[in-house]
Amino acid sequence: MKNIFSYLFFILIIVALYGFAYSFAQDKSSIDAKKVFETQKCNMCHSVSTDGITSKKKDAIDLSNVGSTYKADFLTKYIKKEAKIKDAAHKFTFKGTEEELAAVTKWLGSLKKK
Ligand code: HEC
Repeated sequence: MKNIFSYLFFILIIVALYGFAYSFAQDKSSIDAKKVFETQKCNMCHSVSTDGITSKKKDAIDLSNVGSTYKADFLTKYIKKEAKIKDAAHKFTFKGTEEELAAVTKWLGSLKKK
């Protein structure tokens, strides 16, 4: 009988640990893309008017509709300077993490003005 209890206890621990690890994995994917956009200074040169992000730069490029033209995968490459738009690489070097970049490009790729 005692054996069954320790066996059940063992299972319980495994389940608890699994839940713990899972909640951590979730945290990672809940990066706030708009916040990254601002902390990484993208808003120095870009606005996203549909999301209330306004650049101080007068001739800022608005990215509110960028998802209609480019997919997230391409934007990730573009920001990493592995891909070009109109024969030119992006002029700005992204200094955040891979996860932050993925969050930002996923968000940008979803921006479509109707
Ligand atoms: C120093 C100014 C500057 C900063 C900072 C900057 N960009 Fe840009 N970005 C540009 C310019 C200028 C272009 C237009 C293409 C070119 O001339 O390089 C551009 C183009 C783009 C485009 C393509 C737009 C299109 O429709 O062709 C995307 C997407 C983009 N930037 C995203 C970002 C992101 C994300 C960040 C932050 C990590 C960022 N940019 C930071 C200047 C900047």
